[in-house]
Amino acid sequence: MKALILSGGKGTRLRPLTYTGAKQLVPVANKPILWYGIEAIAAAGITDIGIVISPETGAEVRAKTGDGSRFGVRITYILQEQPAGLAHAVKTAQPFLEASPFVLYLGDNLVQGELGLFLECFQARGLDALTLLCSVPNPSAFGVAEVDEQGRVLRLVEKPKHPPSNLALVGIYFFSPRIHEAIASIQPSARGELEITDAIQFLIDQQKQVEALQIQGWWLDTGKKDDLLEANQIILDDCLCTQLEGNIDNASKISGRVQIAPDSQVINCTIRGPVVIGRDCYLENCFIGPYSSIGDRVKLVDADLEHSVVLEGAAVVGIHQRIVDSVIGQRVQIKAAPQRPKALRFMVGDDCHIELCQ
Ligand code: DAU
Repeated sequence: MKALILSGGKGTRLRPLTYTGAKQLVPVANKPILWYGIEAIAAAGITDIGIVISPETGAEVRAKTGDGSRFGVRITYILQEQPAGLAHAVKTAQPFLEASPFVLYLGDNLVQGELGLFLECFQARGLDALTLLCSVPNPSAFGVAEVDEQGRVLRLVEKPKHPPSNLALVGIYFFSPRIHEAIASIQPSARGELEITDAIQFLIDQQKQVEALQIQGWWLDTGKKDDLLEANQIILDDCLCTQLEGNIDNASKISGRVQIAPDSQVINCTIRGPVVIGRDCYLENCFIGPYSSIGDRVKLVDADLEHSVVLEGAAVVGIHQRIVDSVIGQRVQIKAAPQRPKALRFMVGDDCHIELCQ
């Protein structure tokens, strides 16, 4: 059994963060989204993993993730020249996959629950495809399945205007090598992509064994800012344990589950968990409220922040208003200006969103 993680694509929905980096490397609770997938696959006992990368962000994914040894797996990187669809990515990876069954894992998805249980079902039932489904309020944004009472998949449609059910395709699929014949038989969709959904529909039309399981826990497609904040909240709620390794002075008050990495300094701050703070940070006179993730080398002085994600190298200094529900990108500087005239001054990149109090 092999695994194929898709970490290519364009990441347009997470702009501006994805102008400068891969969306799969955006951190949730200070860990790249992609790594949750690698860990889940490794925990299911699969050690031969291919990662599909794009020309734009491939080098960064490779440099950050490495050869897999830190996860106890072997990673092979596969370059997909164009984001021509999920089935196109599988086709590009065929020399790596050979005739092995495999799990296909979309690198921007976070799923609760053990992959091993789904893998057992796929193998025990000798299936050609096993898809995972999750009931959602907005099925039109996803691939949607129609299933019978036995869990057999009758029909799949990609982003339908009139969804046949509220069961969305979660970005995890198990395939036998038959999927390659199916991919060779389909045509690009209306949006110009070779859709894995159409390839699975081809298997269904050929009366192959295609089944679905509904996942019980949460599933997060980290496509937009609010999804990212929700993912951050859920992961901090589920996975964080207290670990205070930084340098914390006596005036600081830490409550709830809080992690502070080595070499970080905390002076006269109130921190209410769940909160994670990375390495080499400097925090002085701050309130950090629940569900906040602060990346490495962040500087926060006279700042008040809650339910927010601050990425590596950013600084928030002297802002005496509470910052909530925010994602602050790498190296961003938000500072009070000492000079006159008293005014707001911006140097903001494309596609940024700023909301100011009136
Ligand atoms: O998130 C679940 C949904 O994922 C499913 O419900 C849909 O059926 C499935 O088609 C897919 O839809 P998206 O439109 O959300 O896929 P997206 O373009 O966001 O790509 C998913 C991942 O695959 C993402 O990490 C980027 C990567 N990718 C995407 C394309 C199109 C590639 O590596 N290569 C590609 O060519």
